Amino acid sequence: MRIVIKVGGSLIQDKNGKIRIKYLKELVKILKKIKENNEIAIIVGGGKSARIYITAARELGAPEALSDEIGIEIAKIHARLLISALGEVAYPKTFESLSEAVSAFQSGKIIILGGLQPGQSTNAVASLLAERLNADLLINATDVAGVYTADPKKDPSAKKIDELNISDFTKMVRLEKAKAGEYSLFDYVAYLIIKRSKVPIIFISGEDPKNILKIVNGEKLGTKIVYD
Ligand code: UTP
Repeated sequence: MRIVIKVGGSLIQDKNGKIRIKYLKELVKILKKIKENNEIAIIVGGGKSARIYITAARELGAPEALSDEIGIEIAKIHARLLISALGEVAYPKTFESLSEAVSAFQSGKIIILGGLQPGQSTNAVASLLAERLNADLLINATDVAGVYTADPKKDPSAKKIDELNISDFTKMVRLEKAKAGEYSLFDYVAYLIIKRSKVPIIFISGEDPKNILKIVNGEKLGTKIVYD
């Protein structure tokens, strides 16, 4: 299979901004295992550092687009960190554009991207890359177990949804939340792209990286988006 995996910034960096070394080592083992029988591309988020720098830039008067650009750079630093952790199996650099990434993908190495352009989150990068590569699967790994009826971090009665139609998905996820560093679980560009390409997408908790392997092996986990 050809698989695109989005790794949320919150998995790479804890809430205090500390890089989760042990987690990254575990993640690398799983990614190498998946790579044995599949082609993979990875996108990483900006996490706590992106938010720290974006907040500071905003307080200093930066327009949103510049704050987004700062987030893009931080996500790229996270991409470089994962490149370091993966060693030889990874393509040695990250990318400025989708086409650059696609060319590198043909090398057979795992490619790793951060952000690409303002006005979106790394979910849009993941969706665009999945569409461009004609991926069989897009796995969106975050620190929550899927899409919930309400924000599970704020509402303890929130229930996880196993399967969600794309039109209901837009009602659950606040796509209009579109400020640098504060994009929702998904963003509007990402939504438009998956809607047109209909790439199979599953939201899971990446807190245990084995969950990613389980999905690749066809186990049912998280929330699957279904198309009309
Ligand atoms: P993300 O919002 O995607 O990372 O990128 P995150 O905060 O770690 O979120 P999750 O947990 O992975 O979902 C960080 C910021 O970088 C900018 C946005 O401001 C975004 O909030 N960005 C990222 C862009 O402007 N364009 C991109 O293509 C990617």
